[in-house]
Amino acid sequence: MNLPNINDARKRTDKKTEYIYLDKDYDKNIFNGKKYYLKTYGCQMNVHDSEEIAARLESIGFTKVEDLEKADLVILNTCAIRENAHDKLYGFLGRCKHVKTSINKDLIIAICGCMAQEENVCNFIKEKHPYVDLVFGTHNICDLEELLINKDNNKQNIEVYSCEGNVYENIKYSRDSKFKGWVNIQYGCDKFCTYCIVPYTRGKQRSRKSVDIIKEVEELVKDGYIEVTLLGQNVNAYGKDLDGELNFAELLQKVADTGIKRLRFVTSHPWDFTDDMISVIAKNDNIMPYVHLPLQSGSDRILKLMGRRYTKEEYISLFNKIKENVDNVSITTDIIVGFPNETVEDFNETLDVVNTCKFDSAFTFIYSPREGTPAAKMVDEVSLEEKEKRLYELNDLINNYSLLNNKKYLGKVVEVLVEGINEKDNSKVFGYTDTMKLVNFEGSIDLVGKLVNVEITDAKSFSLDGKIKE
Ligand code: 5AD
Ligand code: SF4
Repeated sequence: MNLPNINDARKRTDKKTEYIYLDKDYDKNIFNGKKYYLKTYGCQMNVHDSEEIAARLESIGFTKVEDLEKADLVILNTCAIRENAHDKLYGFLGRCKHVKTSINKDLIIAICGCMAQEENVCNFIKEKHPYVDLVFGTHNICDLEELLINKDNNKQNIEVYSCEGNVYENIKYSRDSKFKGWVNIQYGCDKFCTYCIVPYTRGKQRSRKSVDIIKEVEELVKDGYIEVTLLGQNVNAYGKDLDGELNFAELLQKVADTGIKRLRFVTSHPWDFTDDMISVIAKNDNIMPYVHLPLQSGSDRILKLMGRRYTKEEYISLFNKIKENVDNVSITTDIIVGFPNETVEDFNETLDVVNTCKFDSAFTFIYSPREGTPAAKMVDEVSLEEKEKRLYELNDLINNYSLLNNKKYLGKVVEVLVEGINEKDNSKVFGYTDTMKLVNFEGSIDLVGKLVNVEITDAKSFSLDGKIKE
């Protein structure tokens, strides 16, 4: 048993990142006929990790099921970013326990992902959820086959490492999409924003080597992929941890040169956003004019307490520079309200930035204390009721600007990458524009995976309606 430890998770040493090129194959028949159910919570990083988990399970004989009751193995890939992620997991675990006690006593229940990296979570699972068979973390997904093969059936198996982390290559993915692919360019984070758990759950910032990234993208292009999104907690800090490696602007250019039709990247930190990046985005037609640029707060006082390393003015000036240089760019953001002791004046500064930047859309959150982070120790005098009031006010403002921005699309013809059938209306399909606007329009399943020209006929806060333009 290996339990996580917050002090080790916080540590950053001079140890060089190891690059480990995996080459082990397992017997395809080990779990032949067995079925797995995989549930993913949280961000794109987790979604992509689940594609790795799926490939590993399938390589040892498992097949996927959508029905929990039919599974032999359930894996819950968890998120730790806010407390409500915990509530969701414990709710779902209740269902798993029920299946195990009443339908399939041999059901293997496994938990992985960011919550598994939390010391308090592992202790809680040990004490209150003894029916959970296996817990593993973000650093040992590559050992999944072995963890399952060597699992001791008579006890709870917890194998979680709090370490800075390595980079694994030759990873296979069972990708959810045949035309849209995620490509990790970097793991972990060294920014240590005071509210954020990610540097503890995902380890230090480790960039992949650019040759390995380019090779992966080239293979996706060869396989007919239309869109690639480069993934990292801090994509634009790419290469800073590696001597003699490309920087993010250079990497972006090289990836664009592979000829992939649509190239995206998430998430950028305003601190690392360079002029070179802006010019690379501006001059390559296949780099989508869309930037997700988390603001977090508009108050300099709160930004400092958050450890964000930029001021309101610096954020706005970067925002304007991107808008001025990248044609038709859409910019979205993340905002936290109710950071400890945020005053009405601080909050008004945030509203002020929203009124200045008029974001295309924003993910907004009430601050959630995460055990082990510096902000969690701050005594907070602001009530939840007041924080909720601020969140509603902020959301109203954001939605107004989303609608205003979306209305600019009325009558225009945009290129949409069709992703699937609209769940509410089967006669329609949905997809995204280059600027990441969700578009619904009449169409059939054969359009899925294709780029289609659509004329926009209606604009709402969260989506556009249109009709196909022949
Ligand atoms: N509480 C609330 N929101 C948070 N985020 C990160 N940590 C917290 C927290 N403790 C938000 C940030 C980040 C997004 C992914 O989640 O806005 O950009
Ligand atoms: Fe968390 Fe800040 Fe790192 Fe983003 S940059 S993952 S908010 S610590």
